[in-house]
Amino acid sequence: MSDQKSSPVSEMYPPSAEFLARTTHTNLAEISKHAEKDLEGFWAGEAEELEWFRKWDQVLDDSNKPFYKWFVGGHTNVVHNAVDRHAITHRKNKLALIWQSEDGKTQQTFSYHALNREVNRMANIIRSMGVTKGDRVTIYMGRIPEIVFAMLACAKVGAVHSVVFGGFSIDALQNRISDSATKLVITCDGSFQNGKRINLKDITDEALKLCPTVENVIVVKRTGQDVYMEAMRDHWYHDMCVLPIANGKCPTEVMDAEDPLFILYTSGSTGKPKAIVHTHGGYMVGAYSTLKYVFDVKDEDRYWCTADPGWITGHTYLVYGPLLLGATVFFFEGGPTYPYPNRWWQLIEQFGISIFYTAPTAIRALMRFGEAWPNKHDLSSLRLLGSVGEPINPEAWSWFHKVVGKNLCPIMDTWWQTETGTFQITPMPATPLKPGSCAKPFFGQVVEIVDEKGKPVETGAEGYLVLTRPWPSMLRTLYGDDQRYVDTYWTKFPGKYFTGDSARRDKDGYIWVIGRVDDVIKVSGHRLGTAEVESALLTHPAVVESAAIGLPHEVKGQAIHCFVQLNRGFEPKDELKEDLRKHVSTHLGPIAKPDVIEFIDKLPKTRSGKIMRRLLKARAQGLPEGDLSTLDE
Ligand code: WTA
Repeated sequence: MSDQKSSPVSEMYPPSAEFLARTTHTNLAEISKHAEKDLEGFWAGEAEELEWFRKWDQVLDDSNKPFYKWFVGGHTNVVHNAVDRHAITHRKNKLALIWQSEDGKTQQTFSYHALNREVNRMANIIRSMGVTKGDRVTIYMGRIPEIVFAMLACAKVGAVHSVVFGGFSIDALQNRISDSATKLVITCDGSFQNGKRINLKDITDEALKLCPTVENVIVVKRTGQDVYMEAMRDHWYHDMCVLPIANGKCPTEVMDAEDPLFILYTSGSTGKPKAIVHTHGGYMVGAYSTLKYVFDVKDEDRYWCTADPGWITGHTYLVYGPLLLGATVFFFEGGPTYPYPNRWWQLIEQFGISIFYTAPTAIRALMRFGEAWPNKHDLSSLRLLGSVGEPINPEAWSWFHKVVGKNLCPIMDTWWQTETGTFQITPMPATPLKPGSCAKPFFGQVVEIVDEKGKPVETGAEGYLVLTRPWPSMLRTLYGDDQRYVDTYWTKFPGKYFTGDSARRDKDGYIWVIGRVDDVIKVSGHRLGTAEVESALLTHPAVVESAAIGLPHEVKGQAIHCFVQLNRGFEPKDELKEDLRKHVSTHLGPIAKPDVIEFIDKLPKTRSGKIMRRLLKARAQGLPEGDLSTLDE
């Protein structure tokens, strides 16, 4: 099914007695039993810990499956709970956000009071541009505080944000803006990455040539580089901030629990990226509750999630989840190895980070530089670690546990997806851990591992991973495409949510995720569709046809390997390979730059004309070619 094999090991790492004594929730079996017996009661209890303008009439409406609704009739706004309410309590002067620039020269801090003011200013500005409830706003920025303000400001006025990762480029941005019929774009002049400038505004200008729905563009100044500003359309954020309209008070829109909060594009097997829809009510409750139990966030914690806000992890566990809990969030502009591979360790020491949530690919990359770099720093503030995005290999797990966590910090290996919105399979601080396993389903969730026919497989056997219970933060649909929502997630195994992953369950009930069973690849934790890479290649005049596959890569998890069939008149030269790699980088984004381009005379296809990626994958790895009966010779 997949090339990413995890090797179950039997070692168990129970939390120490000292750690347990400081852990809030240790009665996991009891809570789990309650949630299993009374799913709606469990989630109602979680929702009651948050504030509602009007209480719901019904917790779960499953009368029109798979279009589930949660907290039906309830009124709230995620920003009310994430910002407004803290700004008038004892948390008013608590730090909500600590931001550090990549070069380390600038630090900005925002208390909940200040965050509220900044969000209100931006909310007033976007409201003054005619953006109202239900309008889509695309956010395309680097990792600066204003991206957080922008997301929250949209939510505050009831607009639906669509954040496009700053590592995507022209075509990806343009497709996402057009598909969502965006009215307003919020971007920056540029962003910094490893000391280099990324020209975000130039890319935006290119993308907007084909996006007639966009009326306004707000530009936040970050790099100070020269950019083109189109009269009437483009507005500097700092210019708007001095207008009387941009004051620090702004009413929070009352939203129905089921009103969309954001859409986030993610890659699927085929065709264009899918716009996952999440809501104000259910998503809010899910983000709050999962982070509360899994990272046991306390008022005195300094919480750092290294994800970019452009991905779901950034949405749920950098922005919404921790703010809903009133936590102090650390937000870093840069990456792990610039200018030196001790950057993250130095920041943990400098800011006293206590909860550190990152990805296996980053751990593997840092591991290669050796223990000396982390050992230079005092990491004793850490008490809990987390991992997400792909299976964590036991070697990386052990390094993270020993070298970073000094054998004192449990690792929360959280399995979830853009679609699930929140953790679905995960340990909790009190769970005994097995390196490489994401442990057990979250409260209320029931997981099955099934064969092609949907029948549960035997213990220890590999099968498709499906979720059988609805949960509040589940995606509601694909924006503008209800049918594709049903077809993609609910048709292969009727009545059950198909994750697209394969997994095993061991005799202790621990889940071992193996990887994707479709054409989604994970490159350094970034989710990409082979179809997107192929369409980018197709826009190059030399390319007749292409096939992209993911191959195992020591650090990145998977590498992008492309087979390209050339047009007549083009020579299969190395310079052309380089040109094609650059082409994909310019159009789709640097994260999608193929690692290898291989020219091929003819792509292997089935008689019905489908490219046999499975065969290409086997050949590229020198593995058995398997059943070739459908191959069209
Ligand atoms: C993979 C990221 C193993 C999985 C939050 C899933 C994981 C896809 C884990 C979703 C984990 C995520 N162990 N695999 N702890 N977490 N995955 O939408 O294949 O970017 O289907 O969401 O990442 O990727 P996405």
